[in-house]
Amino acid sequence: MREQRKPIYSIMIKIFLYCVFILSNNVLVAQLNDVTYLELGEVKEPSITKILTWDSLGKRYQSRSEELDIKFTFQFSNKTKKEIIIKRTFTSCGCTVAKLPTTPWIIKPGQKGSIPITMDVRGKSGVIEKETTIITDLGSIILTTKVAIGAIKSINTPRKRSKEERAENLKIAVQNRQAIFQNNCVECHVEPTKGKRGRQLYATACGICHDAKNRASFVTEIRSLSKGKKQAYWEQWITDSKPGTLMPAFAKKHGGPLDDSQIRSLVNYLIRVFPRELKTKDAISKSLNTKKNLLK
Ligand code: HEC
Ligand code: HEC
Repeated sequence: MREQRKPIYSIMIKIFLYCVFILSNNVLVAQLNDVTYLELGEVKEPSITKILTWDSLGKRYQSRSEELDIKFTFQFSNKTKKEIIIKRTFTSCGCTVAKLPTTPWIIKPGQKGSIPITMDVRGKSGVIEKETTIITDLGSIILTTKVAIGAIKSINTPRKRSKEERAENLKIAVQNRQAIFQNNCVECHVEPTKGKRGRQLYATACGICHDAKNRASFVTEIRSLSKGKKQAYWEQWITDSKPGTLMPAFAKKHGGPLDDSQIRSLVNYLIRVFPRELKTKDAISKSLNTKKNLLK
């Protein structure tokens, strides 16, 4: 009898230990990966069931600095035997948009579909994570999208110019203060501003002159005089500047590179954040994001 029982006990103990192992393992996985991300562009058969069956509940992407709109697509199928109604979507900020072909969208049993989600990363840096809630008649589903924004070409290190080249550029500017938006000047004074907003726009469009380590004496030190300056002050200087000075007019109507929405974001930054920043290397380098591979 004893000989027969022994293996049964040992099997039961083994099963018990196995269960403990599986459970603890699952808890660990759940804690580490609330969302298992699929890389943008990776294709997978829908297998994750959350009301509908999805290819993934999270997608991520390491962007390059010139990419402004990151487009994700979530695939799903209705593996139930009933119609499921997608009523609407909800995103946590205006910078993320999920599109439905119609609302309400009725998904028949067996039907497949996809939901495109676009993240606008203009003026953003670091890792951004957004949630989109899909509201159905059976409850809601959260889809997470995550973008690590690639390094921005540093304006701290534009190509070094010789003394002669700097002097030559200055001569050209004296004749026409808008010349910096034309010809060879665009390499350093226009290209780096493209698609930027807020702090990064300041660093690329304005900081290049105003925060230069060897700032020319006739270029005003604007950080110390920025306190208490109002919206109209900034708008005036950025949009039209002051004829007869070397400060260029940045608005499109004067041949400048900035559209109304960029100017607005710049003014917002200059009123709200700028006066609190110190003119230190730190503050300036913070305005440039040079981290790479943020997802790793
Ligand atoms: C290779 C990058 C580069 C190019 C090209 C360039 N600039 Fe600049 N510019 C700078 C930098 C950097 C500064 C800030 C001063 C410094 O660090 O040399 C500057 C500053 C200036 C200033 C402020 C005065 C001064 O010398 O600091 C003026 C005016 C100016 N640039 C006009 C121009 C014009 C006009 C052109 C085209 C003919 C031009 N720049 C082309 C990089 C460039
Ligand atoms: C090419 C170099 C250059 C660039 C780029 C530049 N500035 Fe200027 N800025 C100047 C110079 C030179 C002056 C001094 C004008 C004068 O003679 O009064 C000035 C003056 C100013 C003043 C006036 C300060 C005062 O009250 O006297 C403000 C404000 C200003 N700049 C803001 C900006 C902003 C914001 C940007 C970015 C959109 C910018 N600047 C880009 C060269 C530049």
